[in-house]
Amino acid sequence: MKKFQEDKILILDFGSQYTQLIARRIREINVFSELVPFDIDLEFIKEYKPKGIILSGGPDTVTNLDSARVDPKVFELNIPILGICYGMQTMAVQLGGSAKTASKHEYGFAKVNVNYSDSKLLGNIINNNKSLDVWMSHGIEVSKAPGGFRSIASSENCAIAAIENGEKNFFGLQFHPEVTHTAKGKEILERFVDICDCQKKWTVKNIVKNTISKLKDTLGDKKVLLGLSGGVDSSVVAALLHRAVGDQLTCIFVDNGLLRLNEGDQVMETFSRNMGVKVIRANAQEKFYSALSEESDPEIKRKIIGRCFIEVFDDEAEKLKDINFLAQGTIYPDIIESAGSKTGKAKVIKSHHNVGGIPEDLNFELVEPLRELFKDEVREIGIELGIPYEMLFRHPFPGPGLGVRILGHVKKEYADILRLADNIFMEELYKADLYHQVNQAFAVFLPVKSVGVTGDERRYDFVISLRAVETIDFMTARWARLPHDFLDTVSNRIINEIHRVSRVVYDISGKPPATIEWE
Ligand code: XMP
Repeated sequence: MKKFQEDKILILDFGSQYTQLIARRIREINVFSELVPFDIDLEFIKEYKPKGIILSGGPDTVTNLDSARVDPKVFELNIPILGICYGMQTMAVQLGGSAKTASKHEYGFAKVNVNYSDSKLLGNIINNNKSLDVWMSHGIEVSKAPGGFRSIASSENCAIAAIENGEKNFFGLQFHPEVTHTAKGKEILERFVDICDCQKKWTVKNIVKNTISKLKDTLGDKKVLLGLSGGVDSSVVAALLHRAVGDQLTCIFVDNGLLRLNEGDQVMETFSRNMGVKVIRANAQEKFYSALSEESDPEIKRKIIGRCFIEVFDDEAEKLKDINFLAQGTIYPDIIESAGSKTGKAKVIKSHHNVGGIPEDLNFELVEPLRELFKDEVREIGIELGIPYEMLFRHPFPGPGLGVRILGHVKKEYADILRLADNIFMEELYKADLYHQVNQAFAVFLPVKSVGVTGDERRYDFVISLRAVETIDFMTARWARLPHDFLDTVSNRIINEIHRVSRVVYDISGKPPATIEWE
């Protein structure tokens, strides 16, 4: 019997913004896939024993002499290879073909015609009208296919939109099969995976089974500690560890007073009461409020919150005896985003400033059961392990919590007002079925007073801003065009139900130039 990760596809990353997406798509076909820098040692590839290799797209211009190249010996490994966009271009050039600047740059939807119905890769993957709707993004194109290859598809602006060497199982696609805009993209990738003769064993059930069994092996009868935040990653780690080693797991949940309404109680309810996980709740609200009371600078506030977290965690951890392991919810994108290529060519995406890090000097051995997983896989595993859906599909919440949503000085009084306002906003988003149509929504507390009038009474109270954004990667974002009637309902409820708020505003700033959070 083959192990569930044995048949795998290795992606050599030339730095395209879509490379991670290729790995995710291959895994959705239930085959394991990882990405490494394009210039990784040949020895690594040989030892890794992939059943197929994908050369990703990238920002380089293949006609430049110093542009990125894959080790030519990769083409002698006798493994199927699929080049996508830049990956196709470099494969063509490295194997004796040529490329040129495209007469017309193509960006966006295009129709390609498949030239051969007996193509191994594209044969029969076509629409009724014998074409494919694809997503193109390129300014360079292959002008001559290398010897042994034939051109298997063309578009109006690109004569050689796909190439194939059926004998060697080498393929190139000028378009991106990994993006959903390419209608039959997944079928094309699945065809490649089948050509590679991969068994499809990368399933949620197998991942869970295997991770639990690995955790059992690693931990034995030793004790393990986890900082539980209630976020997706640490929640799933807690559930996995609990399944694997039960009471050998202790979680520390730090209530910093900057959580959303009832969040602390919900975390305790889910993990401690319902799942039977040992969770220590450290009620450190006062410590955080007092450390923050005199500070208004956002970055210093973040540092204070990070420092307080470590101190509280440290204090609690020291009270525990015989802990050997520390678990962390590191996921696969955290790892690939912090690794770059040797030549520095693949674009390294900046990972986000993260607070709430666990102290490094605590002399524990690290266990990271999610290191190989993408976020959507972590969520699916969470479902399999019985974590509530709302918890797994909640909008992201920053480590410093309400600390960066209360502008300037943080006080308990402000946090209490903000929690109520935020909760009303969330309740209404759910009720109107809008919660999952935006990618992040929250309320912000503005410590300025504004005049209002209720009945005959004059009010002089605080301002709440509502923020809702649509985004794919949180690097750029568009403010969500929420219906005016909906905003009206939320605003009325907040002003009527929260005594200290006299005015509600809606944030209509995009990112850039504004950030998603206000601090
Ligand atoms: P910005 O405000 O930079 O936010 O546009 C982008 C995404 O990152 C989240 N964010 C943080 N997450 N610690 C975190 O863990 C932080 O200090 C932090 N600041 C922002 C933010 O909520 C958004 O999803």
